[in-house]
Amino acid sequence: MVDGKDLFSHFREHSVAEFFKKNKQMLGFSGKVRSLTTIVHEAVSNSLDACEEAGIVPEIKVEVKELGEYHYSVKIEDNGSGIPKSHLGKALGQMLAGTKFHRYVQQRGQQGIGIAAVSMYALLTTAQHPHAISYYKDKKISCEISMDFKTNKAELLNLIEEDNKEGKHGLTYEAEFKDVEYKKSDQGIFEYLRRTALANPHAQITLTEPNNETIVFPRAIQENPPRPKEILPHPLGVGAHDLLDLARAQKENRKISAFLQNALARLSANKVSELREIVKDVDFDKNPADLTWEEAEKIVQGFKQVKWIAPETDSIVPIGKEQIEKSFMNIFNPEVLAVTERSPKVYQGGVPFAIEAAIAFGGGIATAGKKGEIMRFANRVPLLFDAGGCALTEATKSVDWGRYNLKQFEEEPIVVLINFVSVYVPYTGAGKQAVAQEEDIMDEIKNAVMEAAREVQKYISGKKKAHEIETKRKVISRYIEQLASDVTDLAAAKNKNEIKKKLEKIIEEKYSQGGEGEEEKEDIPEHEEERVKEDDESEEE
Ligand SMILES: Nc1ncnc2c1ncn2[C@@H]1O[C@H](COP(=O)(O)OP(=O)(O)OP(=O)(O)O)[C@@H](O)[C@H]1O
Ligand SMILES: [Mg+2]
Repeated sequence: MVDGKDLFSHFREHSVAEFFKKNKQMLGFSGKVRSLTTIVHEAVSNSLDACEEAGIVPEIKVEVKELGEYHYSVKIEDNGSGIPKSHLGKALGQMLAGTKFHRYVQQRGQQGIGIAAVSMYALLTTAQHPHAISYYKDKKISCEISMDFKTNKAELLNLIEEDNKEGKHGLTYEAEFKDVEYKKSDQGIFEYLRRTALANPHAQITLTEPNNETIVFPRAIQENPPRPKEILPHPLGVGAHDLLDLARAQKENRKISAFLQNALARLSANKVSELREIVKDVDFDKNPADLTWEEAEKIVQGFKQVKWIAPETDSIVPIGKEQIEKSFMNIFNPEVLAVTERSPKVYQGGVPFAIEAAIAFGGGIATAGKKGEIMRFANRVPLLFDAGGCALTEATKSVDWGRYNLKQFEEEPIVVLINFVSVYVPYTGAGKQAVAQEEDIMDEIKNAVMEAAREVQKYISGKKKAHEIETKRKVISRYIEQLASDVTDLAAAKNKNEIKKKLEKIIEEKYSQGGEGEEEKEDIPEHEEERVKEDDESEEE
């Protein structure tokens, strides 16, 4: 038996890097194919973020070479801003470090772990240091990345700093990995990049495969999408602890009233007056540095009693209906395609998000043998793994597909695309592959999918009806000859041919497309009641 004294002789502290070294599966490093996709996913998302942030139209090259059994080198080159020497080690080799974690802006990365985890995987599986070339402003920096997992610190080795004579910009990252495998499967790099291209038509992506074949996913739009606006947290999205942190981190405002207006979105002088009325025992003129936990709690409670305008919608930039249509027609050429355009909503009280849903049915989807497939994206990043617990999958599956003539969803030639767009994606794990099943998110995905499904249903039921009419026409036409003879005999007439022609005309008119008279009954409500109600836009800001 271990007594208390012995037990605590085992007490240690660990760094975040040590933690993920032991738990690399949490970051997507499990399985040979998945590990390789994770590597490309982390580097390519960073490249796209860096290009868009710098206002550069992305051009990304991915090169994979086979060096031995389950042993590959991967090189990712972009034309983004590059990284200054001062930040290169931290950016590529230190976990929880970066330019994104602390910001409230729609981007692909949000943890400050991704590429450092890739560097870690290279070191753990091959002991070879990743190599980087950064063209940043007037400098070209080449170096190798070394990591100390115990301290979560990075070091640059063999550093060469030169003038950027070529005038280039961007980052090239290259590393060797073992325990990985290149496969052209549904979860491999090829499919990952194909989907990345679908959701990012402004990017030009080139993949050189281990067999030396080069595939280009060409750019379809010449400009970057509008830059999403960086916003302040919404009062309904912060807790007492967040408010205290914000108050202590700031120096500019000397009164709580001014601090609130500057730190949170939608918080005007009028709103502060309203709050003063509600939270009477907090002095809004005192220094934010002296804000206590109790006061912060009271203010947060007060926020809930005020009517707020929803967060700014220009913080959310979707792919767009036209673009999704173009990409889908190019890739699948389906028989029917329905794409939704819906306004942003909020989850957890104040975090803005939007759902784009598209349903493609039949045509090229059937030819490609695709059935009941759900293509998931978060901020335009394809999610290829952990579909099980993801809100995007679960909400789509919970739709009653029978109402849309698609009862056997998993057997139908159908592809559903869902893009979750937000200033913060609530991933269920550090591997960033599944979105948490928040109630507001689930409801909105369902609403979006049902909206698209209604359009597809209209087409399918129209097609079914056309088929029924055609069958009736054919059946009745078979009797024309006999009927014309009978009518001629009955009327003791001589013009049988004329009678036959008249009968043919009647049938043609009655059973031509759309001639069947009776209206199709819509048994599906246009919009299910939506839970998230936006405040009146006319309210003052
Ligand atoms: N290709 C690149 N060009 C410019 N800067 C980059 C590039 N790759 C990484 N960075 C910088 O390095 C930082 C760390 O990248 P990393 O992928 O580890 O984290 P992140 O992208 O911030 O978040 P996440 O862990 O969600 O990916 C980024 O925040 C960014 O500032
Ligand atoms: Mg990243």
